[in-house]
Amino acid sequence: RRRKMKAGLKKLLALGLVAVLAVGLVGCGNKSSDNSGGNQTALEQIKKNKKLVVATSPDYPPFEFMVSENGKSKIVGADIDLAQKIADKLGVELELKAMDFDALVPALQAGKVDMVITGMTPNEKRKKAVDFSDIYFKGENAVIVNAKDAGKFTSEDQLKKAKLGVQKGSTQETYVKDNLKVTNYKALVAVPDLIADMKNGNIDAVVLNSKVAGINVTKYDGIKVVENLKLTSGGDEEAMAVAIKKGDNADLIKLTNEVIKGLQDSGEYDKILANAVDLVSKETK
Ligand code: ARG
Repeated sequence: RRRKMKAGLKKLLALGLVAVLAVGLVGCGNKSSDNSGGNQTALEQIKKNKKLVVATSPDYPPFEFMVSENGKSKIVGADIDLAQKIADKLGVELELKAMDFDALVPALQAGKVDMVITGMTPNEKRKKAVDFSDIYFKGENAVIVNAKDAGKFTSEDQLKKAKLGVQKGSTQETYVKDNLKVTNYKALVAVPDLIADMKNGNIDAVVLNSKVAGINVTKYDGIKVVENLKLTSGGDEEAMAVAIKKGDNADLIKLTNEVIKGLQDSGEYDKILANAVDLVSKETK
């Protein structure tokens, strides 16, 4: 009887071992097929998911903006074309997610998206949270005002005294707050809201990318880009790069940089940008 029990116990133990092993194997299997990464690089995961998820704040024409096509709204722009080129190079589908500008970096950090392409300027603070590709566009900042005020702002000092508007969480906000040391500026979530607020007289001037400023002046009546206004360091530059989630991402960054370099060397990026500008003017008409 004792022997029998021992044999039974052995059998049970053996079964248990098999079960543990099986669970272990299934566990491993799960790891490589879900989004949590496991040992996969960022690029491998995207290929496995068969799609590249890119987030953007579509309020920054010609880089990203909304158009309506057959009654449906669609995100378009130079950054979207760049995203498509990266997806093509990866051989996967592109999925776009529209978000408020200040929600983009947190979404990327949380792994909700693979990349952020939104005219984002790399800076030291952001580099602690996410990684960046090479620069794909070397922009600069400009100031827009109501047409009647166009002559008023000839120096940065005058700017300091004005009620300034900036996009919330942008490098323009950093410039106004940290460089100009202005405290009572207005930070709004979306660029069109800033322009509307300026037209209503609640804001005197909006700081934003010069290309975006130029487009907005053609889109809205009664506003102008301030000419001959020199912004100092921190305010002058508005470079753009692709933001990528930190982690095992060297291969993804490399591929992204290759796409950027290819577009730049062939002159295709300039065409992409010119097309996007055309698209805005068509929409406006
Ligand atoms: N370059 C600025 C920044 O990184 C502004 C970008 C705004 N982009 C947008 N899609 N609204 O903070």
